[in-house]
Amino acid sequence: MKIIAAIKDMRSVVRDLRSQGKTIGLVPTMGCLHEGHLSLIRESVKKADSTVVSIFINPTQFGPAEDFKEYPREMRQDIGILEKEGVDYLFAPEAEEMYPEGYKTYVEVSDFQDRLCGRSRPGHFRGVCTVVLKLFNIVDPDISFFGQKDAQQAIVLEKMVQDLDLEVKIEVLPIIREEDGLALSSRNTYLSPEERKAALVLSKSLNAAQGMIEKGERDSESLIRRMKEILNGEPLAKIDYIEIVDIDNLNPLTKIENKTLIALAVFIKKVRLIDNVIIHIKE
Ligand code: PAF
Repeated sequence: MKIIAAIKDMRSVVRDLRSQGKTIGLVPTMGCLHEGHLSLIRESVKKADSTVVSIFINPTQFGPAEDFKEYPREMRQDIGILEKEGVDYLFAPEAEEMYPEGYKTYVEVSDFQDRLCGRSRPGHFRGVCTVVLKLFNIVDPDISFFGQKDAQQAIVLEKMVQDLDLEVKIEVLPIIREEDGLALSSRNTYLSPEERKAALVLSKSLNAAQGMIEKGERDSESLIRRMKEILNGEPLAKIDYIEIVDIDNLNPLTKIENKTLIALAVFIKKVRLIDNVIIHIKE
């Protein structure tokens, strides 16, 4: 695997690949790789001729009071994982390479970026869109892979691709969970054993909602009420939001329809975790 830090070197590799007629898959990450990332990487290795994984802890998507400084950095371990997975290129620029002094340009997907997580993380999706558009410009991928765990991120990025006429195809792959239901996340490394146990309330509340829907419940308020009961029953949990929305535009739904997204963010003590489920109704 070739490790690349400079934008100009990445571009010259891309030019080379293009001249050989090769397709490029891009998996953007912030490192601290887990099975969730690996599912994206394996899909890219399978589908594209060459796979580029980026590791860049993007400062512009963290708020001033958020965990940018503490965010887990595991570069050596990540390189070993990527080599084993048959990744062709690791693009790992420094912050100054992506945002040199005097940097001024940002991308916003208005409205979508202000909902759900955007309400408690103002500026987060502006940072995500900006860095992902820069990565798309640098790596010029045919396909780029994202996880359903960050459902709103995937929806916002799909909108950006559509609105800006980008040629890249976005592929969103299912959430990978631990056996007990906890959705994999690099932030799970922050949890103490006691908090790790408490964090199971997120998937438990989603499972309960799904169970109610399977039995015929369609009323969003009743579902949210039940989810709140479960989450509030865990003393270490504090709800940031629970939302039931249309997956195409993130508009709140009072009644469950096909392709409804149920999403939540919950603090387990200081650690903010997110999880979600997409409801497919067979009628
Ligand atoms: O999902 C992530 O890890 C990040 O938001 C991403 C897409 C790599 C952009 O920094």
